[in-house]
Amino acid sequence: AEVAARVVRLGEHTGARIDGVRLGGDLDAATVARIRAALLTHKVIFFRGQQHLDDTGQLAFASLLGTPTLAHPTVPGQGNAAVLPIDSDYSKANSWHTDVTFVDRVPAISVLRAVRLPPYGGDTTWANTVAAYDKLPEPLKALVDRLWAVHSNAYDYAASVDEARIGGVDVKFQSYRDTFESTVYETEHPVVRVHPETGERALLLGHFVKRLVGLTSGESQALFQLLQQRVTQLENTVRWHWREGDVAIWDNRATQHYAIADYEDNPRRLHRITLAGDVPVSVDG
Ligand code: SIN
Repeated sequence: AEVAARVVRLGEHTGARIDGVRLGGDLDAATVARIRAALLTHKVIFFRGQQHLDDTGQLAFASLLGTPTLAHPTVPGQGNAAVLPIDSDYSKANSWHTDVTFVDRVPAISVLRAVRLPPYGGDTTWANTVAAYDKLPEPLKALVDRLWAVHSNAYDYAASVDEARIGGVDVKFQSYRDTFESTVYETEHPVVRVHPETGERALLLGHFVKRLVGLTSGESQALFQLLQQRVTQLENTVRWHWREGDVAIWDNRATQHYAIADYEDNPRRLHRITLAGDVPVSVDG
């Protein structure tokens, strides 16, 4: 059958929009294959105008690309256990990260749907961690190829919930806070992972990194910052201005992202589904 999906590139390294597709659980195999191929090439894919989707439809579509995981290891879901509401009331992911890297099996793919948007601001930006690795000078590649990092959620949402807006009043938020604080994960991953589908090498870092193995904390910080600067160089990124009903899918094995918190106290809510991934494999196998 003729595939109606049109892939429109948004930059040199990162991002494409796909037009002509109505997302849902009933997509034909050729369209799903086209979406998957575009995802592997462009790392993040956007769809406009998917207002017909609800959580169930989002989940049915996401299931065509992989196996949905529980919404989050330390954040309770609401309603559907596979759907994580990312709501400005308790979560503003405004630092560069790859999703849920503090577990052994880092999710492969995330599917995010805009539910409620602020009148201004609230864009999300993604960076391509494969291109960032590719552009490293050879001596730095040699250094990072055999480096490992400790990832932990200890500094994650717990901190932002503590500092931000809760004030210990709202019961729902309080229970989030308890959950965040009660489960600490710590995992080692290679700083350079070999992508299980493309074979590309990608930098695996982001805000869950606590330290680099074998280095002092000062050395860890300096090298981490140097590498993060490479990842987040603007030429390496794409910025998306959301409209309600938009859906973004990213390859969590090849990207980091940052939700820009420039919308003051206006409500912002997106629903995320993550698909199961593998234990990251280093260049040594
Ligand atoms: C996330 O970090 O997955 C959420 C991104 C966003 O809120 O735009």
